[in-house]
Amino acid sequence: MVTRQKILDLFQTIRAPRRRRLGVPPRIISISNNKGGTGKTTTAVNLASGLAFLKGYRVLLIDFDPQGNASIALEVDIENLDCSVQDLLTGKVTDFKYLLWDRGENLKILPANNALKDIENELVSNIDGRVRLRERLAPILNDFDYIIIDTPPTLGLFTQGPLIASTAVIIPVDVGFFSLQGIRHLLEDIEKIRSHYNPNLQIGGILLTKSDSRTILSKQVEQTLRKNFRDKAFETIIRVNVDIIRSQIARKSIFAFDPASTGAKDYSSLIAEIVGNIVAFPRERSEASGSIQKKARGH
Ligand SMILES: Nc1ncnc2c1ncn2[C@@H]1O[C@H](COP(=O)(O)OP(=O)(O)OP(=O)(O)O)[C@@H](O)[C@H]1O
Ligand SMILES: [Mg+2]
Repeated sequence: MVTRQKILDLFQTIRAPRRRRLGVPPRIISISNNKGGTGKTTTAVNLASGLAFLKGYRVLLIDFDPQGNASIALEVDIENLDCSVQDLLTGKVTDFKYLLWDRGENLKILPANNALKDIENELVSNIDGRVRLRERLAPILNDFDYIIIDTPPTLGLFTQGPLIASTAVIIPVDVGFFSLQGIRHLLEDIEKIRSHYNPNLQIGGILLTKSDSRTILSKQVEQTLRKNFRDKAFETIIRVNVDIIRSQIARKSIFAFDPASTGAKDYSSLIAEIVGNIVAFPRERSEASGSIQKKARGH
């Protein structure tokens, strides 16, 4: 019989040694969909955690949503932040030593809270507002293999800034009726960003989330997704799983909460697809990254 302990052991053994790079820029992946509740934050948190803990990559998770859900999910007290992504954008705090929180050996988070909203007008009215995130991240690019950015359910500047800074975008869609229809606007924006700001931006993939294979609707949405988007749709589908909700209540990634859960299996499969398809890093990296701080915890 496969016991829970055996599965835990298996996760340990498949955990790859820490990856090393040689001057390769990080993959910067925005998780975006202007529709609310499609699983962006859930995907950002578990993708970042899994890349760090299962695969040993050095990962930065950036919370770029004033709701601060990714920060909350990894146990950052967003009501009492000394500094956050908002300070990086305004230039008030640019030393990453003060901005990043350790969430385990290979994972750091740059948190956000409601204060991010306060600077929207400033960013919109400034000529460099949209490119500021890209510029401010430049000093730490060599410290990470992957940077994952969680974005809010809007098509405004808080989604455009991350897309301009990214090398790829992953679009989670749920089985809701408007989910697939709505991404047309996002795809149009991605095209504009490609032609005006960032020709390197790829569609990393469209990810079906919260799927329940017992329902006809889930099957129909999957068929439509594969028909319309073909190889842009991930093979992996994230199934509805109550452990994902429980892990968020416990403020842990699904891997830390229950590595044997359906949610952990699905996100692990997504990670394998992303690592296999989007990126293959050279084996060696010249130096260990230094500088970054704060209490390490297992998430
Ligand atoms: N695979 C899943 N199974 C069950 N519930 C899920 C799953 N994925 C996400 N959820 C739940 O769906 C809700 C929305 O998820 P999430 O917050 O990740 O979406 P979002 O796109 O980030 O939302 P927003 O647009 O508000 O930022 C949450 O309550 C979350 O717990
Ligand atoms: Mg969210």
